[in-house]
Amino acid sequence: MSKLETVVNEIVAEMRDMPQRGEVASYIPELARVDPKAFGLVVIDAEGKVAAAGDADTPFSIQSISKVFTLTLALGKFGDRLWQRVGREPSGSRFNSIVQLEYEKGIPRNPFINAGAIAVTDAILGGHQPREALGEILRFMQYVAADDTIYIDDKVAASEQRTGFGNIALANYMKSFGVIEGPVDYTLGVYFHHCAIAMSCRQLAMAARYLAHFGNDPTTVLPVVTPERARRINALMLTCGHYDGSGEFAYRVGLPGKSGVGGGIMAIVPGKASIAVWSPGLDASGNSQLGQLALERLSKRMEWSIF
Ligand code: DON
Repeated sequence: MSKLETVVNEIVAEMRDMPQRGEVASYIPELARVDPKAFGLVVIDAEGKVAAAGDADTPFSIQSISKVFTLTLALGKFGDRLWQRVGREPSGSRFNSIVQLEYEKGIPRNPFINAGAIAVTDAILGGHQPREALGEILRFMQYVAADDTIYIDDKVAASEQRTGFGNIALANYMKSFGVIEGPVDYTLGVYFHHCAIAMSCRQLAMAARYLAHFGNDPTTVLPVVTPERARRINALMLTCGHYDGSGEFAYRVGLPGKSGVGGGIMAIVPGKASIAVWSPGLDASGNSQLGQLALERLSKRMEWSIF
């Protein structure tokens, strides 16, 4: 067994009976039904070797992790013009906060807080029908993961659509500043559905490979984005990927990473590996509690911190 496989197995065994697992998200009712004991970890190295343990093949709701892929798509369409509608600074606020939008004329701080991701989704939507935009996002996910079984969990999307009043407020408020161009319900419909994409840790670690390998999928050597773009997306993940917990994540783990309220975290070891971890319980910032602990241990044992 390689050192990486040993470490991955060790960590999953350590997490199995950990008492402090955080709280499963309940503001999206459908997410509250997930088993808090679930835990999965997958690492794919530069040669394509997979180290997987725990619930590595159980699909879960990727939620905000989808924002990395919508950002990639939107940058592909608009290039640097995208930054006219969304900033690149950490917010220091909760992921669903509205407070800064008034002071900052409806321009969200970064593409990973909810407001910023809704603005990015609106850019992708352009003048298209919601289904076209959603199809484009889903196909992109399937392409980068090399897996066309990845699907949207319609129950999760409907559950958020019924209860997502905070996001509805954010979108309407941005619309009042002209930052959202399309019909608000179209933009939100696409946003709720891309957040409801279900993927396993194995699929997510596959999908993250282009970010770990300078914009290329090393198995197919197909360029997904330029090396410069991959570097910049990683920089945003490092500084904003865990919202008001981003400083703590950089301090403890030392890798670019993006969390979701489904309990997943996707992390990147530039040039070396892509990682996906899943544990549904969240900390106070809405980031997976054990996911962060597992990544802290993995990064330390493999000496993977970028610092
Ligand atoms: O908009 C929301 O609130 C969810 N669809 C996504 C939020 C999320 O995943 C925050 N991440 N930890």
